Formats: sequence, structure tokens, C-alpha cells
Amino acid sequence: MPPVTDRMRAMVEIFADEATKAGFGHVAPPMFEEVGVFVRLGEATDVVKKELYSFEDKGGRMISLRPEQTASLCRMFAQRRPVTPWKAWYSGANFRYEQSQKGRFRQFDQVGAEVIGSSDPDLDTELIALAARFYARIGLTRTQLLLNSLGDPADRAVYTDALRSYLSANASGLSEQARETMQRNPLRVLDSKRESDQEVVGGAPRLAEFLSVEATAAFERVQRGLRALEIPFVIESRLVRGLDYYNRTTFEFAAPGLEAAQNAVGGGGRYDGLVADLGGPDEPGVGFALGVDRTLLACDAEGAFEAPVTAPQIWVIATTGGIEAVELADRFRLAGLRADRSDSSRSMKAQMKAANKSGAEVAVIVGPDETAQGAVSIKPLRGQGEQITVPDHASLRTVQEYLQK
Ligand code: HAM
Repeated sequence: MPPVTDRMRAMVEIFADEATKAGFGHVAPPMFEEVGVFVRLGEATDVVKKELYSFEDKGGRMISLRPEQTASLCRMFAQRRPVTPWKAWYSGANFRYEQSQKGRFRQFDQVGAEVIGSSDPDLDTELIALAARFYARIGLTRTQLLLNSLGDPADRAVYTDALRSYLSANASGLSEQARETMQRNPLRVLDSKRESDQEVVGGAPRLAEFLSVEATAAFERVQRGLRALEIPFVIESRLVRGLDYYNRTTFEFAAPGLEAAQNAVGGGGRYDGLVADLGGPDEPGVGFALGVDRTLLACDAEGAFEAPVTAPQIWVIATTGGIEAVELADRFRLAGLRADRSDSSRSMKAQMKAANKSGAEVAVIVGPDETAQGAVSIKPLRGQGEQITVPDHASLRTVQEYLQK
């Protein structure tokens, strides 16, 4: 509800503007897909294993509410084959059966942008820049960009083996949850926020040492690009994303004002291979999504991004029993002003009270005297100004002049 919804909408509009400036078209992926689309996010991930909202529809198909929108975009690309590179942005709700708490919801909004069909690492830089410029524009100044490269699948396979051996050898120093995660997905252990895991995790082999020459060159190119754009970043070799489709560049924006477990206000990376997995051509992809709800919490923590002003500028009051109030409000709205009115059957006193409560700057009044003269009265609701009466045809101009002062 307002004012939160006003802020959310304003945020999406700013994102839309930034994405449009950068050459992205708008897409509206469906709210649900056949479950198979989302299983590609990684069968070992929490998002797929524990958090999907799935159900059988009346046609006997297994359906899931979307937990994110990248997989849908890849599925859309695979079916429609738009011209590459395909640059698309989106916004909307996602659903994950999480333990809800502050900053972690079962329904949450994202805005995101994806590019399918190019392996140019400069695109990774541009996408990160799009996110960074968006945060700056809404007034967030303390977000930290964490950057990593997960290498190519072959690099990761070698690394995962090395990591698994290391973690198994040191399993006694890990929490029970970490030992369980280690069996399914050793990389996720690196992401453990539990104090008791930190010593073992801190000593783990680093993925950076396992990257191929090509992956290393691409990663260096992204870093060079970010430096050229003066976007500060920190290399976080333990940054592991919660979805399995990533390779090469991965990144997250952390907001220090939020609790560590929920401080990622956005994240993304490359997902070369996902389109092919979904039955499409072997086209690379890269993108990110930002959590709108969580970004708002980060704004609150920094005292940034106030709700846009939506209060009416003009409040129309009529006590004649005619249609004047509706007509006047319509005239002001057609001229691009925010105008509202109260119920014309109520007393002057009650309508004035509503005008004062509305936050409007000026009241436009039509009573029996005004009707007799073909006039309206204009009463400033704030400051010193005097009430004046002008001919009806001058009402719009007079109000506009008043509002400009
Ligand atoms: P993700 O990291 O799962 O990535 O989500 C992106 C952002 O959505 C998070 O950083 C967070 O701000 C927000 N978010 C996620 N889950 C929740 C939740 N339960 N409650 C509130 N906010 C949440 C993705 O979704 C990928 N599709 C991003 C991507 C696009 N990668 C490549 N392209």
C-alpha cells in the first residue's frame, strides 16, 4: 500500500529509464512455467529443492510459480529466437518458499536485465554499470560491489573436486549443515555465514587458481572496464551465487545497512549454457536482478529515496448540487495537474476539512455566489495568500500561476 507501493513503482520507472537508455527492450515473462524450466536453475540448489511453489494444473502438467525470471527469458529466447544480442529488461513478482523474515519474503519483486547471444566481457561491465548507476540514481551510496569469476564448467569441475577433498579432510571443523551441503554442492559451503565454519572455509583452495587462460583474460577485461568507468569493486573469491547456472563473471551488490544474511540487494553474472539447456541454440547469456523490496530497506537504512509526491495539487469544492466539481477536476487533470474533489452533497465545512487533510496546495470553490457570477473562488491552503474570485474561464490559468509560485 502507499507510500511503499509509490516508492516501488518509482523505483521500477527509474530502472526502466536506465535500461531503455542502455538499449534494453521490455519483456513480460509469465508468472509460471512448467516446472522443468526452473529445475535447470540447479537441482542441488535451495531455490529448486526447497523453495519452488509447484502444483499440478487441470491439464495434469506440473507448474511452478517463478522463483526468478532469467530461466523464463532463456526459454522465451529458445522458442522465439529474437535477433542477437537480445537485450531485455523485466520487473515483477517472484515466489520462493523461504523462511520469511526482514528482507526475505516469499513473494518479492525484482527488476532485472539480461543479454543473450554475446560472450563479450564488456557487456558484463555494462550490465554492472547499469545496476550501479541505478543505485546511485535512487540515492544509495553505500552499496558494495562484490565480484568473482566462477570460470568455465571444466575449471569448476576440477576445482569442485579439489574443494570437496579439502572439505572432507576438514569436515570435523564444519557445522552439521555445512557437512550436509558439502555432499550436494561443495561450492555452497563457501557461502556459509555460520561463525563455526569460518576457519575451514577461510583456508579452502581458491577458485581463482583454477581458472583457464580464457576465463582469466575475460575476468581481467571486466575489471579493467569497471576501473575505466570508475565503479569501485571488491574481488570476493568466495562469492557463490544461490543458483547453479553461472560461469565466469558473477557479482553481487551488498548493502551494509542490512543484516549480513539478507544484505544482497542484487546480483547476477554469466550463464553461458543455460539457453542450450532449455532446448535453444548454444548462445551465451549474462544479466542480473535487483530485489526491489530489499533495495527499499537499504534505502531506509541510508535515509534515501523518499516516496514521490502523489497528493493532489488542487482540491475542488462545490456546494451547488451540480456537476461543476467533476467538470473542474476533469479540466485540471486534462491540463496535467493532480486534482481531486470531495462529495458535492456534503456541507462546505466538511468539504473544506477534506481539502485541508488532502495535502492539496489550493482549493477551487464553487458555491451559489460563484455560480451566479459564472466564477470560481481560489483559496490557497498553505501560506499567506488571500482567497480570490476569478471568471470561470480563467480558473485554470490562475491556478497554474499560483502553483508555479
Ligand atoms: P538472486 O540472487 O536469487 O538472483 O536474486 C536477486 C536479488 O533478488 C537478490 O539479490 C535479492 O535482492 C532479491 N531476492 C532474492 N530472494 C529474495 C527474497 N526471498 N526476498 C526478498 N528479496 C529477494 C536471481 O534471481 C537471478 N535471476 C539474477 C540473475 C539474472 N542472474 C543472471 N541474470
